[in-house]
Formats: sequence, C-alpha cells, structure tokens
Amino acid sequence: MDLSTDICGIELSGPVLNGSGTFDALAARRVFGDSLIEDFPFDCYVSKTITMNPRPGNPPYRLWETPSGMINSIGLPGPGLDGFLERDLPGLAGLGVPLIVSVMADQVEDFEVLVSRVATRDEVAGIELNVSCPNVHSGLIVGEQPSETEALMKALRPITEKPLIVKLTPNVANPQEVAVGAEAGGADAVSMINTVKAAAIDPGVNRTWLGVGAGGLSGPAVRPIALAQVRAVSASVGIPVIGMGGITDAESALEFILAGARVVAVGTENFRDPRAGSSVTEGLPAALGRRGFGSLAEAQAASLD
Ligand code: SIN
Repeated sequence: MDLSTDICGIELSGPVLNGSGTFDALAARRVFGDSLIEDFPFDCYVSKTITMNPRPGNPPYRLWETPSGMINSIGLPGPGLDGFLERDLPGLAGLGVPLIVSVMADQVEDFEVLVSRVATRDEVAGIELNVSCPNVHSGLIVGEQPSETEALMKALRPITEKPLIVKLTPNVANPQEVAVGAEAGGADAVSMINTVKAAAIDPGVNRTWLGVGAGGLSGPAVRPIALAQVRAVSASVGIPVIGMGGITDAESALEFILAGARVVAVGTENFRDPRAGSSVTEGLPAALGRRGFGSLAEAQAASLD
C-alpha cells in the first residue's frame, strides 16, 4: 500500500516521524552502522531541540518510569547552535530522510538567530519551534499564550520560507487557542503533544525523585489526552497537525490520523524499541485495511462521527 504523504510541503515516503529528543540518530548510527540508514525507522527525522549555547541539561535524576509511561526531566542538554551546525548537522543530513531541526530559545532575538542560521542550511527541510518544554524555565510564556505565540511567529515568519512548525504544550486549558495564534502568525503546522507536567516521589526517602522536582509525562498514559487535544486543534486550524503522544504501534498511530493528524510521531516507544518506527509503518497497511481504508489518504480525509 502506498503510504507516501507530505507535511507542509515536505514530501515523505510515509507518515511516521520521531518525536524530538526520543531517538539519537547519530548514536544509533555509531552502534548499528550503515544498516540504520538502509532501513531507517522514520520517514522524516526531527532533531533534539537545539539552543543558542551548549547546555548540560538538568541535574539527576532525569527519568522515572510510571505505569504505561515515563517522566523525563532532561532539560535540553546539547552542543548549542555552533556545535550542532558544525558537528551534528552533517551526520543528520546523511540519514536519507528529510530533516526537521527543533530549536528553543528564552528570548525572541535568540529564536531569530536560531531560525536564520538553521534555515540557511540546505540540508534542513523544516524547523520546529519548541515553545513547550516543561523542563526549562525559558522566561517566555510563548507556548501558553495565543497572543505570544502569534507574536513570535510574526517575528520569525519573514526570516525563512522553510516550513515553521510550532510544538504545542498540553499544559494549557485550550491548546486550540494557541494553535490558532500560531496559524495567525504564519506557522505552517503544529506538532503535539509535548509532555504533560508530572512529578514522582522517591520510593526510598522523603523527597522528589527528579533532580529539579518535576518533569514531563509521556508514553501510552498520555495517549487519550493527546487524542482529545489533536482532535480539538485539528478542528480549529487549517494547518496540518503532527500528532504524537503514546504511539506504540500502527493501530495507535492510526487513531491519531483519525483524530485529525496528518502524520504522526513515535516518541517514548523508541526508548523501549529503537525499531518502533519501522513496526508502526509495517503495520499500517493491515491497520488501515481492518478499518476499511484502501489508502492512507482515505484515512487522512476521514472524519469521525
Ligand atoms: C527535555 O530535554 O527536557 C525534553 C524536551 C522537551 O520536553 O521539549
């Protein structure tokens, strides 16, 4: 079955992306070699979020497993913009699939620099604006306020014609209002959901487990929240939605398509199974067929009662 599709002008051989920060393609290539490229698990690769300057990330502990999920408090560790462009981008450009680079800043001016410099690179098909990380105190309230999201987009839109994708937080009452603000400011797509604010208590002593006290919950536990929000947002905007939140297999991926997502991303499941993206793709024809669809496009066009 032909699964080819597109997201805001980026042609894809199928609808399965990775969630930013959930699959380290450079490390995976070091371990698995070129076999990773020959059978890459995703139809488009989204980088870990890049910041202006190198960051060590949050103090330990950074991860906690929950029933049907995981809390992370990673805190966006990374090489910074220069390190990413010099060292990481050439390797990511050789993965054989379109590349979306995720960026995050704590002031609009830094977002402008990040977008300008990343957009000049031919290897980059699109840019995702992470305005929704719960683990970093950015000083910006962009992702929580529709007007701030719109203002950020209006500042960034003139910089590049490359697709700009806004990563939405689920930690607001009405994510559709933020999505409407993103669209009004010129966003080409939204991706959702980022993680749900969460905490864990150390089982041994009376303190919080995570180094900074709280983090973000992901995995199957958040899937019903994600489906509700994808459905609400996709009904509110004309731009496409990249849906994610606890996708583990083709059936759960298809749930997101039916909720209104154009394409999907696999996140937490990659930690359990690095080939999860391939399993989703391999299962999609049968999952589509079981629901009576003859193609991916038919499911993308379907509306729920
Ligand atoms: C992190 O590095 O803290 C996770 C990234 C995110 O939630 O956006």
